[in-house]
Amino acid sequence: MFSKLLSLAALAAVANAEHWIFGGSRPIATTRLDSIVSPGGIGTHVHSIVGASRFKNTYDADDLMQSKCTTIPVQPDKSNYWAPQMYHRDQNTGVLTPMQTGFNIYYLVRDGPKGQPIKAFPKGLRMVAGDTNRKTYNASSFADQAVSYVCLDYSGAHNNDPDWAERPNFFDHNCPNGMRAQVFFPSCWDGVNLDSADHKSHMAYPIQNYNSGDCPDSHPVHLVSLFYEMFVSVDQYSYWGPGTWVLANGDTTGYGHHGDFQNGWDIDLLQTAIDTCTAAAGNVMDCPALAAVFDQASADACVLETELVDENIGDNTAEPITQLPGCNPIWDGTGSKPACSNPNAGTPELVAAQVPLPSGWSEIGCIAEGTSGRALTGASTTSPNMTRAVCANFCASKGFKLAGIEFSDECYCDNQVRNGASQSTITWNLCTNHCAGNENEICGGPARLTLLTASGAVASSSASVHSTTAKPSSTANTVSSVVPVSSSSIALARSSSSVVLHSSSSVVLHSSSAVATTTAHSSSVTSSKTGTTTSAPAASSSSVVVPAGWVSAGCVSDNAARALTGYSFANDQMTVASCVSTCASKGYSMAGVEYGRECYCGDALSNGQGKTLTASTCNMACAGDKTATCGDNWALNAFKTTNVAISLPSNSTAGLPSGWTALGCRKDNVSGRTLNVDAFTSNNMTIATCVAHCAALGHPMAGLEYARECYCGSAFVNGGGATLAQDKCSMACSGDSTAVCGGPDALTVFSKGVSGSARRAHKARNFGRAHQHADMF
Ligand SMILES: *[C@@H]1O[C@H](CO)[C@@H](O)[C@H](O)[C@H]1NC(C)=O
Ligand SMILES: *[C@@H]1O[C@H](CO)[C@@H](O)[C@H](O)[C@H]1NC(C)=O
Ligand SMILES: *[C@@H]1O[C@H](CO)[C@@H](O)[C@H](O)[C@H]1NC(C)=O
Ligand SMILES: *[C@@H]1O[C@H](CO)[C@@H](O)[C@H](O)[C@H]1NC(C)=O
Ligand SMILES: *[C@@H]1O[C@H](CO)[C@@H](O)[C@H](O)[C@H]1NC(C)=O
Repeated sequence: MFSKLLSLAALAAVANAEHWIFGGSRPIATTRLDSIVSPGGIGTHVHSIVGASRFKNTYDADDLMQSKCTTIPVQPDKSNYWAPQMYHRDQNTGVLTPMQTGFNIYYLVRDGPKGQPIKAFPKGLRMVAGDTNRKTYNASSFADQAVSYVCLDYSGAHNNDPDWAERPNFFDHNCPNGMRAQVFFPSCWDGVNLDSADHKSHMAYPIQNYNSGDCPDSHPVHLVSLFYEMFVSVDQYSYWGPGTWVLANGDTTGYGHHGDFQNGWDIDLLQTAIDTCTAAAGNVMDCPALAAVFDQASADACVLETELVDENIGDNTAEPITQLPGCNPIWDGTGSKPACSNPNAGTPELVAAQVPLPSGWSEIGCIAEGTSGRALTGASTTSPNMTRAVCANFCASKGFKLAGIEFSDECYCDNQVRNGASQSTITWNLCTNHCAGNENEICGGPARLTLLTASGAVASSSASVHSTTAKPSSTANTVSSVVPVSSSSIALARSSSSVVLHSSSSVVLHSSSAVATTTAHSSSVTSSKTGTTTSAPAASSSSVVVPAGWVSAGCVSDNAARALTGYSFANDQMTVASCVSTCASKGYSMAGVEYGRECYCGDALSNGQGKTLTASTCNMACAGDKTATCGDNWALNAFKTTNVAISLPSNSTAGLPSGWTALGCRKDNVSGRTLNVDAFTSNNMTIATCVAHCAALGHPMAGLEYARECYCGSAFVNGGGATLAQDKCSMACSGDSTAVCGGPDALTVFSKGVSGSARRAHKARNFGRAHQHADMF
């Protein structure tokens, strides 16, 4: 201990503090490819790969630098950074689950006592640090010292516990705030070779230490130092003892961790940063050359342009795996290496990362939604499997030649753009939502569409319809406002608590086909058997009749959880007046008619519903008055009394972890999120779920927006965070109709003991910075 302190003190005297961190960088791919060790083929094990979008199984620096984007916020760095994926192994079932991973990538300007000049990575350089086959630790070897693990526990309960200190292999206990797997690359280059047979010998560690010092004569060119922290969410999984954690190469010790790097930098920019960013102590924004090209929006919207290995890596919960992809038997390093458990498994193929569009379709780009209604109103659907191709096929089947995908899972069709929208594209990175059915594709954004077009004749075939009839009927949260298949009599199974068969234009089918025959629209609707009632053609939309003392609240969205939850009934005599008078007589201030014959009452639009739809969406004739419209499929014609303000759900703080408080309604900035470190969406969002998610990742701020979105950060960034009027946050949480989860461009914010000022700006994305590297700085 004493001698270690001495050597650190000596080191501190010479170490240059200049460094910057690309914190919280997202993998662009998790796949069994390795362009350094297995060029042109399939890799030996699955990697988590960060960086440029043209990563592929061969390294061509010129091609890589043509990448559209990178998940690194400094876009002129088109490098790729990768390490083995880490898996969790279930004690009982042996199921292997890839754990969520993010990278902090450090560039450190570290000259030794001689003050050798620090150089940018030469074009074409690639290298590996660590050894996939290592099962032991040699404390005298810099190469072994360069691989280490840190167990994060923000409570401080284990600060001086040697069992929790940074170490060269896996811990024998869980890590309450996640774990970091770390690799420090050698920084001395032989000045000649961009690679070598073992991908290491053209590089060397400095003379004095693995992470700083002077370069040896054999490797005289001192390059900038590179260090990866792979943050792994081990805390999200149960720990049951050694063997719980497995690297993708089968290693359960952790010694076999390693890192790979291939250079894609704008070399001049990197050299400028090295030479001029002496004030940078971690924060990229303290390096003017890099701050000038910092572009988090492009990093967030970046997706892989190339190919992936067509195999199950264990990320599909429907098809769990118990063997690691490739020949990687689970091995704790004792005895001889076990035989492959699946020696006869064939070599998988490569597949395009993005599902190809159907023939004749092409992408126009990212456009803004209409200003006075939807841009595309011809037909729409949603699917948890949404991709650009799914939407194009759906629109083609409806005879439309424009398709627009929005907010990950929504698809809209038309033959022209309407309501103030235009086909002129906006900056590509404003469409940032990854498709619900393929994370490697972008499917629009909030109020932004990824617009597709069919050239030439519009196909009228319905052969390739993404079937909306296939929706499972058991899970309410997989269904939202599916527009009926208007051109046929296909029954749509809508799932609420029971199954309803719908058909918009002709016969309402019951007891036909394989679908269940229950008729209740929702459990709360008074069931009245409708038999094979023929519904009338849609009435003209101008004929909404509003009873005295009430005003229209527009055509708004509904779902199985219901926008209006107070009272409901359905009958074949339904009119707007009968619905509104019933709701009024029961003391409700809001009423809504839906699907021709259903009436709902309440005092607020809840469950995240009540989104304004175009008036023409509510186009179904009232069962009791063919001249008027009574909503449509998952669409309510809503009404409210003129003398009662619509009450908003409350700001519940119940269920918050201790120390968390409400900061109220705050402005968000969709072009650069106000809380930008981590995000997820859920159809079952609650305040507690979002806050717990952010807290678990160590982020002191959590914000909820648009009913089902959760954002985490440590400070308001990108110009957001201004206090908004209370009513700007008026959407009920998708998973809790009694609480507010923000609104359009508005966050309901909670924090843990921070002021909310822009304290750390762009350093916000660093995971797990609570434990500093005592031996590095
Ligand atoms: C440990 O590493 C040192 C330094 O590289 C080396 O000289 C030594 O031979 C290694 N020991 C073993 C047992 O490999
Ligand atoms: C989505 O895809 C999965 C697997 O491909 C399939 O089982 C499921 O039925 C699909 N769901 C929908 C709604 O299409
Ligand atoms: C919600 O919280 C904010 C901040 O504490 C407060 O200003 C506001 O009045 C609260 N709203 C309700 C409905 O309680
Ligand atoms: C929604 O979340 C709650 C807890 O937050 C959970 O109890 C419930 O099962 C979830 N419902 C669905 C449908 O996932
Ligand atoms: C929103 O964020 C973007 C990207 O960081 C920034 O350019 C823009 O100025 C921000 N808008 C406001 C109003 O601050």
